[in-house]
Amino acid sequence: MKPQRHEVFLMCPPGHFEVSYVINPWMEGNVALGDQALAARQWQALRDGLRQVAEVREMPSAAGLPDMVFTANGGLVLEDKVVLSRFRHAERQGEEAHFAGWFAEQGLRVLRMPDAIAFEGAGDALLDRQSELLWMGYGHRTDVRAAPLIAGWLDIEVQSLQLADPRFYHLDTCFCPLEGGHVMYYPAAFDTASQKAIACRVPQQRRIVVGEQDALDFACNTVNAGRHVFLNRASPPLRAQLEDKGFEVHETPLSEFMKAGGAAKCLTLKLTEPRRRAANAGR
Ligand code: ARG
Repeated sequence: MKPQRHEVFLMCPPGHFEVSYVINPWMEGNVALGDQALAARQWQALRDGLRQVAEVREMPSAAGLPDMVFTANGGLVLEDKVVLSRFRHAERQGEEAHFAGWFAEQGLRVLRMPDAIAFEGAGDALLDRQSELLWMGYGHRTDVRAAPLIAGWLDIEVQSLQLADPRFYHLDTCFCPLEGGHVMYYPAAFDTASQKAIACRVPQQRRIVVGEQDALDFACNTVNAGRHVFLNRASPPLRAQLEDKGFEVHETPLSEFMKAGGAAKCLTLKLTEPRRRAANAGR
């Protein structure tokens, strides 16, 4: 595996990771049941795999902020700007200052949401990999009013999608834009209008529909770097579909993080997000 181009991902080691509160259905019944040594090994395996094909930068973890390991939620990066998250739950709001400081140190321009508008970064805002389009989820965490603000600040078209199943509370738990304009998703996580919007924007041959079991295994929570995809688990039929589209599938078990409601993609934030304008001539 060789890096195909220079892609950079942000990760935060799980030194302070644990399930110590419940803010999504996955965390229920898992408080204080984590195995920290196993979490560390699983995190390192993901990082080391990703390092084979991309650069990984690490930010320090912080005591009392166990979910900061999920860097996808720190903000949304496009070119040299980052829209900082404003977490819905008080338990995660302390992360905002850490992410803001780290982003500013990297030279990114940090944009902030108004206080009353929740926004959970690249957990709920995913750039299409072919078109100049931002897919945004709402209904559980991110406020629907975040979409027009971000569209204006980043000068990008936004397609909002309503999330309908509490188990799939962030967009990146059930939807994943992939290189080449493919989109892997679990349709039942969305309301009917949003399912139609996806079908309207993405031609059938580029839709990779995931079944419930794969969705519950966090298959849609995939890190994509070039033709490589890293995920917790994929059933043989899903693996075959991905391979058929030219992807190399790397399974990397993340059971400890699933106890907190996250997996591969949540544990990373892509920092290199160029504009897709040149490729925007259509799919
Ligand atoms: N416990 C975290 C939360 O509920 C998990 C976040 C997972 N991140 C993600 N991008 N889906 O906020």
